[in-house]
Amino acid sequence: MEKLKKRSWAEPFKIKTVELLKMTTREERVRALKESGYNTFLLKSEDVYIDLLTDSGTNAMSDYQWAGMMLGDEAYAGSKNFYNLEARVQQFYGYKYLVPTHQGRAAEHMISKILIKPGDFIPGNMYFTTTRLHQELAGGTFVDVIIDEAHDPTSLHPFKGNVDLQKMEDLVKKVGANKIPYISVAGTVNMAGGQPVSMENLRQVRAFCKKHGIRLILDATRLIENAYFIKTREKEFEAKSIAEILREMCSYSDGCTMSGKKDLLVNIGGFLALAEHEREVFEEARNMVVVYEGLHTYGGLAGRDMEAMARGIEEAVNLDHIRARIGQIEYVGEKLQSIGIPIVLPVGGHAIFLDAKRFLPHVKQVEFPAQTLAAELYLDSGIRSMERGIVSAGRNKETGDHNYPKLELVRLTFPRRVYTQAHCDVTAEAVEAIYEKRDNIKGLKMIYEPKYLRFFQARFEKLA
Ligand code: F0G
Repeated sequence: MEKLKKRSWAEPFKIKTVELLKMTTREERVRALKESGYNTFLLKSEDVYIDLLTDSGTNAMSDYQWAGMMLGDEAYAGSKNFYNLEARVQQFYGYKYLVPTHQGRAAEHMISKILIKPGDFIPGNMYFTTTRLHQELAGGTFVDVIIDEAHDPTSLHPFKGNVDLQKMEDLVKKVGANKIPYISVAGTVNMAGGQPVSMENLRQVRAFCKKHGIRLILDATRLIENAYFIKTREKEFEAKSIAEILREMCSYSDGCTMSGKKDLLVNIGGFLALAEHEREVFEEARNMVVVYEGLHTYGGLAGRDMEAMARGIEEAVNLDHIRARIGQIEYVGEKLQSIGIPIVLPVGGHAIFLDAKRFLPHVKQVEFPAQTLAAELYLDSGIRSMERGIVSAGRNKETGDHNYPKLELVRLTFPRRVYTQAHCDVTAEAVEAIYEKRDNIKGLKMIYEPKYLRFFQARFEKLA
């Protein structure tokens, strides 16, 4: 008998409750896709087999978190779950002040309104849709200062989320540091393919900001995933715990916005957190949250939601958890690479990004190659993914023309603790099936375009 060469790893949990999946026929999917205007955001979840639309709010909670839900203190003011969440944020993220919000964009809204004046510039390591929109609505202009490698899906740079300090220097020269209220630095940059920032880069950005009196606000949404990459790719941190790395990353910032719906293993929740020296900003946010979200000790969340998020923090920094989380993405990545599918490399933290430009080279960017590919994947297999290309990039504020991003990607985003390795295999095989018939795939025409965040609700038709 031949010996098995490799020791496999498996998901570090067992399944206690299941949710049954509905299988659909091709005819049903043809109809569903037409009805949803070829936009996977408009599909009914019931018509989806494997849902890789997003890792946001789609995570499976643990028994420990569900038990916490039963301990929800649903008081209007001063819920004990708020104080528990505050203590966990202080312990693991190191920020003194916490303003809970119903999700990340509410925190982005507040920090943008508080810190940005009309005419300001807000640099960031690539844009995120809601983050940039709130900066613009506050009168600011987003400036991309990520390193060039981030825009190249074939570059193997280990930290493609890094900030290019030369670009920061140029921006300060051009507009003056007083027009830059803060830089927004995201962990595992979503739109770049889930690519991490290095600790070395964060330290440099911090030093630069200090010199010029610019704040550093983290988008901590997937910072724990970023911490794992630092541990595995930056020698200095090999022996450090995820929690230690997380604390150090946060220590170089003045505060963070957070969508708890990702790293923190919950279905709803977020926060704005601020460092001890930011008492004034905190006071203002605490006043503002009452207007938009709810009292400052619940911010639009039920007590039970805050408890689940507090417990989620504890579980999220566990090494077995995060290793398996990112290991699952790596597993799918390796499979796709082995059959020659063009994907963004290195494989990122929360998703596989198919490179639609190379997948469908005959579909022009104005015919929405990534949108097309996402639609085809659903049609073939019932798997739902998300466009991250020209549709997501929206229009230029001045010219009204599309923004033309270099990256035209389809995101296969994996919810945490939800799908098994067999689901991963099915997914890779579905992508392969489309790749084999890619030459016959035609692009799309946009027939309805909403004003804000158009990718959510835009509708398309197949080109003849
Ligand atoms: N920042 C990043 C990096 C995000 O990925 C998201 C959401 C937000 C902020 C906003 O947080 O949704 O809680 O208001 N990303 C989701 C996604 C929607 O699918 O990538 P939110």
